[in-house]
Amino acid sequence: MDDAQLLRAQFAAMFGSAAALYRAPGRVNLIGEHTDYNDGFVLPAAIDLACWVAAARRDDKKIRIYSANFQESVESNLSSEPSQRSGKWWDYPIGVAWALQEAGHRLQGANLYISGDVPLGAGLSASAAIEVSVGYTLLDLSGCAIDRTRLALACQRAENEFVGMRCGIMDQFISCHGQAGHALLLDCRSLEHRAARLPDGVRLVVCNTMVRHNLAASEYNTRRRQCEEGVSRLAEVLPGIRSLRDVALPELERHRNRLSETVYRRCRHVISENDRVHRFALALERGDTSSLKQLMADSHRSLRDDYEVSCAELDLMVDIASQQKGLLGARMTGGGFGGCTINLVEAAHARNFQSGVAAAYRAATRKDPDIYLCEAADGAGRRND
Ligand code: GLA
Repeated sequence: MDDAQLLRAQFAAMFGSAAALYRAPGRVNLIGEHTDYNDGFVLPAAIDLACWVAAARRDDKKIRIYSANFQESVESNLSSEPSQRSGKWWDYPIGVAWALQEAGHRLQGANLYISGDVPLGAGLSASAAIEVSVGYTLLDLSGCAIDRTRLALACQRAENEFVGMRCGIMDQFISCHGQAGHALLLDCRSLEHRAARLPDGVRLVVCNTMVRHNLAASEYNTRRRQCEEGVSRLAEVLPGIRSLRDVALPELERHRNRLSETVYRRCRHVISENDRVHRFALALERGDTSSLKQLMADSHRSLRDDYEVSCAELDLMVDIASQQKGLLGARMTGGGFGGCTINLVEAAHARNFQSGVAAAYRAATRKDPDIYLCEAADGAGRRND
């Protein structure tokens, strides 16, 4: 029995009917970190780790959800205000149902069986994968047309306002719009985007440090505030600006004395990172692998020294990667303070890279890292077999 058959069988055993099958992927970000909530540019790719939903429509307004990962069920009613956030996994699906209804969709009740293999809390957007897969499912079962950008925005709203995490748009957007074999260059202000083909013979190797420092959420919000402070100080002398996206490095340097040293460095990261995204997209087009490597190294350094969202384990993982054969670029990916690094690796060396990094990381930390050899995958969809 393959995974799809198994999920359908599990659904039938629990809910007693046939199911349709949906999936939405997790992601890695190749470059453009902490730029999305600054109206900037990002270059993520959806990966072949995903959240799956087996589902069937109900005739009433109830949503019954079972999570295979947590082995727990929950029920919610679409006709009444959802209960308050609970801090549990079901805030994501219930928040998405709420946000879709707020956006004007008339949803029908459904039974959902959810199962995912995106590791939780590892910075690969397991939360966006559950939001988008459930959102796509509910829309499709309710007979609503699916606009991927509106779906991404509703999922982001669910996370911002229901779950209570002030994330940007990157994770939900790539989970909706991913394209196999490609990364996506996204302008987080206009939401214009274009697919950027990944070079043939390159694997996306994701190395999990297996640590998650609990600073992550609070420091994320602190960084956002520091960027906002930078914008409001700079706007006193650069009245046209709305976000760090609108500031060039020479302008930042000219007005450096208006900012505290910390806020200056936060701004310098964001502004220089936006520039690196464009240069990276160009290097991808030209097949210029030496620039890719340099830009990823510069991005990591900027996140470590200016933005201060790396940690010893991420720095070590990048350092170990740089000693392996076939590496075309390595950096931390996602919000930081633990989680994963993304490595571009020549396919022929990918297996040795995997075992080499695992052995060296284990020797240095006594932790066994999970290392995933990923492909760039399609965004959310229904499985029609
Ligand atoms: C998290 C957030 C994203 C983005 C990244 C950092 O993954 O969910 O919106 O801000 O951190 O680039």
